[in-house]
Parts: sequence; C-alpha cells; structure tokens
Amino acid sequence: MKSPPPPPLLLSLLLLLLLFLTTTTSSTNTTTTTHNTTAAAKTLPPSPSPTSSPTAKPPISTPTTPSKPSTPSTLDPKQVTALQALNLPSKNPCSLYKCDSSRPFSHLLSLHLSNCSDDISLSFTALKSLSTLQNISFFNCPIAPIHFPSELSLSLHSFSCIHSLRHLSGVFLARFVNLTDLTISNVPVNASGLYVILGNMKKLNSVTISNASLTGFIPKHLHLNLTHVDLSGNKLRGKIPTSVTLLENLESLNLSSNGLDGEIPSEFGDLISLKNVSLASNSLSGSVPESISAIPGLVHLDLSSNQLNGTIPRFLGVIKGLRYLNLQSNNFHGVLPFNASVIKRLTVFKVGGNSNLCYNHTVLSSKMKLGIAPCDKHGLPMSPPPAKDSSSDGSESDSSDYDDDDSNQKGSQHHGPNKVVLGVAIGLSSIVFLIVFLVLLSKWCG
Ligand SMILES: *[C@@H]1O[C@H](CO)[C@@H](O)[C@H](O)[C@H]1NC(C)=O
Ligand SMILES: *[C@@H]1O[C@H](CO)[C@@H](O)[C@H](O)[C@H]1NC(C)=O
Ligand SMILES: *[C@@H]1O[C@H](CO)[C@@H](O)[C@H](O)[C@H]1NC(C)=O
Ligand SMILES: *[C@@H]1O[C@H](CO)[C@@H](O)[C@H](O)[C@H]1NC(C)=O
Ligand SMILES: *[C@@H]1O[C@H](CO)[C@@H](O)[C@H](O)[C@H]1NC(C)=O
Ligand SMILES: *[C@@H]1O[C@H](CO)[C@@H](O)[C@H](O)[C@H]1NC(C)=O
Ligand SMILES: *[C@@H]1O[C@H](CO)[C@@H](O)[C@H](O)[C@H]1NC(C)=O
Ligand SMILES: *[C@@H]1O[C@H](CO)[C@@H](O)[C@H](O)[C@H]1NC(C)=O
Ligand SMILES: *[C@@H]1O[C@H](CO)[C@@H](O)[C@H](O)[C@H]1NC(C)=O
Ligand SMILES: *[C@@H]1O[C@H](CO)[C@@H](O)[C@H](O)[C@H]1NC(C)=O
Ligand SMILES: *[C@@H]1O[C@H](CO)[C@@H](O)[C@H](O)[C@H]1NC(C)=O
Ligand SMILES: *[C@@H]1O[C@H](CO)[C@@H](O)[C@H](O)[C@H]1NC(C)=O
Repeated sequence: MKSPPPPPLLLSLLLLLLLFLTTTTSSTNTTTTTHNTTAAAKTLPPSPSPTSSPTAKPPISTPTTPSKPSTPSTLDPKQVTALQALNLPSKNPCSLYKCDSSRPFSHLLSLHLSNCSDDISLSFTALKSLSTLQNISFFNCPIAPIHFPSELSLSLHSFSCIHSLRHLSGVFLARFVNLTDLTISNVPVNASGLYVILGNMKKLNSVTISNASLTGFIPKHLHLNLTHVDLSGNKLRGKIPTSVTLLENLESLNLSSNGLDGEIPSEFGDLISLKNVSLASNSLSGSVPESISAIPGLVHLDLSSNQLNGTIPRFLGVIKGLRYLNLQSNNFHGVLPFNASVIKRLTVFKVGGNSNLCYNHTVLSSKMKLGIAPCDKHGLPMSPPPAKDSSSDGSESDSSDYDDDDSNQKGSQHHGPNKVVLGVAIGLSSIVFLIVFLVLLSKWCG
C-alpha cells in the first residue's frame, strides 16, 4: 500500500533528468556550430585574383592544341626540314605546336622546347625557315644560344627562356621589338642596363627578368602599357624612379631581392591597377607612403627585409581586399595599430624582426605569436623580448609562426567542445548514479 507515492517522485526525477539531458545536448549543438562558423571565417579563401600570373606562361604549359584540328593542312616542307635539323619531332608538329591555317601549306606559330637533350643545337638556317613563329619558349634547355635571324626576331610576340640557352645578352634581346611578353628566369643576362633590353619593345605588356644577374638601374622610361613587371633576384641598384608610378595599368610589380635603396616614391598610390607588389629584400628606407591606401585592388604587399622606419600606418588595416601583408625585418617602431579582426582577415601577416615595435596586450592576445614584444604603458616594447620564436631573420620560420598561431587559435576553440564533453560525462554519470539510487530506493521502499 506504500507503492503509490514513489512513482510521482520517480517520474519527476526522471523528467528533471530528461530536461538536463536535452539542455546539455542543445548546448553541444550551439557550441559546435559556433566553432564551425569561426573556423570557416578563419579559413577564408584568398580572394579570387583576376591577375593572370606572370609565371603561368606558355613555356611550362603543355603543347597547345592545333587551331584547325579537323582539316590539318600539311606543314610547309621547309619547316619540316627545319624541325628535323633541330632534332625536334617533325611528324604531325601541328598537333604539338600551334600552326596557322594557310594553304597549301600551314606554318608554325609557336614552338616550345623543354627538357632538351644535349644533342639539340640551334642552327641559323633552320631558325630562318621558322620565321613565322610568334611565340618561342625554352624550358630547361641549356643548349648554346645563337644569333637569331632578323626575320625571326621581328616576328616574335613572346619569348620565354627559363633555365635555358646558358646566357643571354642585352643586344640579342633588344632585337625582339614586337614582343608583348618577355620571360627570362634563371639565365644570366649580360647587359649594360635594362634600357638596352626594353628600350625598343614598344608593345610590351609583361616582362619578367628574374634571377638573371642584371645590373644597373631601373629605367626612368618604361612602356606605359606594362601590366606585369618582375625584376626580382637581380643586382639592380639605385632608387625606385618616381616615373614607375606612371604605369597605371600595372597589376603586379616584383622588385624583390635587389640592391635598391632610397625611399618608396610618395606617389606609389598612383599605381591604381596594382594587385600584387613585392619590394622585399632591398635596402629601402623611410616610411610607408600613405598614398598606398588609395590602391583599390591591392591584395598582396610585401615590404619585408628592408630598413623602413616610422610607425606602421593604420591605413594598411583599412585596405579591404588585402590578404597578404609582410612587414617583417624592418625598423618600424611604436604600437602596432591593428586589432585582432584586421589581422584575422589577412591570410598572411608578418611583423616580426622589428625590435622597436610592440603590440597593445589589452587589444591583442599573446597567443597570436606576432614575433614582437607587448608594449609597456609608454608604448615601448617591454624589456623581456618576445621569447623563443622572435623570427628576426626567418622568412620561412615566420610563416610557420603564422600557422602555429592559427592552429593555436583553433586549439583554444577546442576548449568549448571539451567542456561540453566533460559536462555530458558528468551528467551521464550522475544519471547512472541516480538510477542506481532510485532502483535501490524503490527496492527499499517496496
Ligand atoms: C543543431 O541545431 C540546429 C538548429 O538550431 C539544427 O538544425 C541542427 O540539425 C542541429 N545539429 C545537430 C548536430 O544536432
Ligand atoms: C560546418 O562544417 C562542415 C564540415 O566541417 C561544413 O560542411 C559546413 O559547411 C560548416 N558549416 C558552416 C556554417 O560553416
Ligand atoms: C597575388 O597575391 C595573392 C595573395 O597573396 C596570391 O594568392 C596570388 O597568387 C598572387 N598573384 C600573383 C599573380 O602573384
Ligand atoms: C621536364 O622535366 C621535369 C622534371 O625533370 C618534369 O617535371 C616536366 O614535366 C618535364 N616537362 C616536359 C614538358 O617534359
Ligand atoms: C603567344 O603568346 C601570347 C602571350 O603569352 C599568347 O597570348 C598567344 O596566344 C600566343 N600565341 C600563340 C600562337 O601561341
Ligand atoms: C615588327 O616590327 C617591325 C619594325 O618595328 C615591323 O616592320 C614589322 O611589321 C613588325 N612585324 C610584325 C610581325 O608585327
Ligand atoms: C638562379 O639561376 C641559377 C642559374 O643561372 C640557378 O642555378 C639558381 O638555382 C637560381 N636561383 C634561384 C633562387 O632560382
Ligand atoms: C658581358 O659584356 C661585356 C661587354 O659588353 C663583355 O666584356 C663580357 O665578356 C660579357 N660577359 C659575358 C659573360 O658574356
Ligand atoms: C596600350 O594598349 C591599348 C590597348 O591595350 C592600345 O590601344 C594603346 O595603343 C597602347 N598604347 C601604347 C602606347 O602602345
Ligand atoms: C617575387 O619574386 C619572388 C622570387 O622570384 C617570389 O618568391 C615572390 O613570390 C614574388 N612576389 C610577388 C608579389 O610576385
Ligand atoms: C627614417 O629613415 C629616414 C631615412 O633613412 C631618416 O631620415 C629618418 O630620420 C628616419 N626616421 C626615424 C623616425 O627614424
Ligand atoms: C592599449 O589599449 C587600451 C584600450 O584601447 C588603451 O587604453 C591604452 O592606452 C593602450 N595602450 C597603449 C600603450 O597604447
């Protein structure tokens, strides 16, 4: 007769448990979703850049498809003989290289030589019969260079030479007056100055002469239609001429790893089409020109490893599309003017190696591992420097720093879910305990 009272008690207790359980699971759901959204925000994909990469050019690309695959007219016999003389495949060359569709014989428009064997040698007569070529590229072909026939020099629109032809001279290159694209990389170029090479190329759109031991200065008069300029890894010296800022179509500028000095021209922001720029690893001094904030599409700014000074301008944090900002290894001083949301919007952000720069620890967490010290109340770096990974001279070490930072932040987010797991575990164990208790109670009562 004592049995009726326990059920309501038991029921209410069970209900309480159920409530407890549902609240814990729903909190798991919300925490995991917030984790999910923050993680998504952090791994923001780099904005699709409409810039066509200056390095993504014909040479490495696979042979182009013929313009007229359906009715292949036969290649000019003279050109077939020329290909044979060059030890190149002469069977069906229009399936390997681009040809025109003239009759009765078609002519080659492009030729790509890559990974040549040593037995290939360029012959003047063979090249002369190939004077219909518009594009020629060499990739990994360290064969001896020869003087190009003038017909060929004039017909070329694009010349690319990557780790090929052993060495080039300015005089040789200067004859390609109809070029729109010039790419030279990892080949020494002997020229008394860049103007010798570029002076007569009035149609040039894109120029890459990189790791080519170029000496001298950047010419004052560059062709105004240039969209890509990469002169990285040479021995250029002197100032960046102010006239460079007249190149209003310029989308990418790479002057990294040269011996340039002086200040960045204050009119730098006149380069309104600029998207990617690197002036890294030179001896540039002075401050970052404020006009840079006026470049609407700037995505990538690398000023690392120079002697730039002054404070880091706040406006750099306001450039909307900026994804890559590298200011490391300079002489910047003062308080870093960015908050966490500015830094998180960037996929790459480096400021290490600026010994007089510091961050406000009420604004930024030390977990971001910026490679600089926190500020004291006067805005000066606190005496104990940033610890182990100060990344003063590291370039790659610092990029891993950034990754560390990222994983670190993601790690700290795992605290949420971990707490939830702990809560669920405690909840479950108390349920088990209560059930055992209730069973015992009902047995004891009954
Ligand atoms: C989390 O809750 C949302 C509604 O807030 C629901 O749509 C979703 O299915 C739940 N996810 C899980 C894993 O329970
Ligand atoms: C949550 O993460 C899953 C897989 O990791 C993903 O498919 C989903 O789109 C994410 N949801 C949000 C809102 O980011
Ligand atoms: C420009 O910079 C962005 C961001 O760093 C990068 O994803 C893109 O590949 C760069 N484009 C060129 C042409 O270098
Ligand atoms: C040239 O050689 C490199 C490595 O030796 C290889 O990766 C590349 O695919 C080769 N290119 C061609 C067009 O054969
Ligand atoms: C030659 O190269 C230019 C620039 O790289 C390209 O736009 C053009 O399509 C190429 N022409 C041929 C015939 O391969
Ligand atoms: C190349 O330039 C020369 C002289 O500047 C000109 O006479 C010739 O017609 C041009 N050739 C082509 C194929 O554009
Ligand atoms: C620069 O070019 C030389 C060949 O001229 C090559 O041996 C070297 O590896 C290149 N350096 C880089 C960084 O590409
Ligand atoms: C480079 O050019 C100068 C003069 O134009 C010449 O004396 C020197 O031998 C050349 N060097 C090479 C490696 O061709
Ligand atoms: C620059 O390019 C445009 C179109 O791309 C062309 O109309 C103009 O004539 C070029 N200017 C020069 C100076 O070549
Ligand atoms: C500049 O050139 C260097 C070496 O050639 C390369 O590593 C770097 O990615 C380039 N930067 C830009 C912005 O094009
Ligand atoms: C920054 O560098 C320039 C040029 O080297 C120098 O004239 C100037 O005094 C420096 N400014 C500061 C604040 O160090
Ligand atoms: C750090 O930030 C706090 C809050 O914005 C501000 O009150 C303080 O003056 C800043 N400290 C320094 C050294 O700039």
